[in-house]
Amino acid sequence: MESIREASQRIAKISAHLQPPNSQTEESCVLKRADCRAKRGAPGFKVAILGAAGGIGQPLAMLMKMNPLVSVLHLYDVVNTPGVTADIGHMDTGAVVRGFLGQPQLENALTGMDLVIIPAGVPRKPGMTRDDLFNINAGIVRTLCEGIAKCCRNAIVNLISNPVNSTVPIAAEVFKKAGTYDPKRLLGVTMLDVVRANTFVAEVLGLHPKEVDVPVVGGHAGVTILPLLSQVKPPSSFTPEETEYLTKRIQDGGTEVVQAKAGAGSATLSMVSQSIPFFIFIFYFHSAALITKVNYKIQT
Ligand code: 2OP
Repeated sequence: MESIREASQRIAKISAHLQPPNSQTEESCVLKRADCRAKRGAPGFKVAILGAAGGIGQPLAMLMKMNPLVSVLHLYDVVNTPGVTADIGHMDTGAVVRGFLGQPQLENALTGMDLVIIPAGVPRKPGMTRDDLFNINAGIVRTLCEGIAKCCRNAIVNLISNPVNSTVPIAAEVFKKAGTYDPKRLLGVTMLDVVRANTFVAEVLGLHPKEVDVPVVGGHAGVTILPLLSQVKPPSSFTPEETEYLTKRIQDGGTEVVQAKAGAGSATLSMVSQSIPFFIFIFYFHSAALITKVNYKIQT
């Protein structure tokens, strides 16, 4: 006859299927995670991705889980976070992954975070400019930033949601209203323009993209994207035709992808590829800031 212990194990398994686990109720078998020998709390950065189940959020979450500088990774979205969290959480790298679903869990997702990356919002469809996303994405960014001001006021915030030219000022105003604004901690992510510029210029010059460095200044929309072709490294000269081709292609790079995807969204993979140099810079910048703070404390 089945022992009481076996019966309760079977019941626990069945109820785990009836009530699928999420990060808040993560125990899905008899051995609870709290009983595991891992102590957690490894040193490293605590990173939240808001919009983690989307086209940018998913590959970004994967790269963050692979990043040895990250100890805790919080994945927040309004749909599909349990699936993405379960999937990413099985990767055999050090960061502890937790998922958060819907606005009631936003504050838990943000509490204690060092870095918050925001790709949340809707992407462009063919024929749209980034400004056409303003009405929807501005409200999303505002709500998320209100949560940041409340739950992790000292976090570095990286905004990817478009139109970045406008969502960064929105975030700044939310933080100013909350009294938490620090311009050094709010960044719009426009590194993709540099990534594209390096790729296209390298193609024209016949070099490997890693050998090329093209500074790009300005904003992240059409003519506000300004590639400084006169400052390219290694020093290079371009014919007027090459200059016109490169400037236009770099400025319209996002639209090129939107049109090629034909309604299925905008750039996601190239957008995430920029995270490797960009977020390593952020982590070191943040470490430097912490070291400066510690030194300051020691000296005073
Ligand atoms: C781009 O330039 C999505 O804004 C992004 O492709």
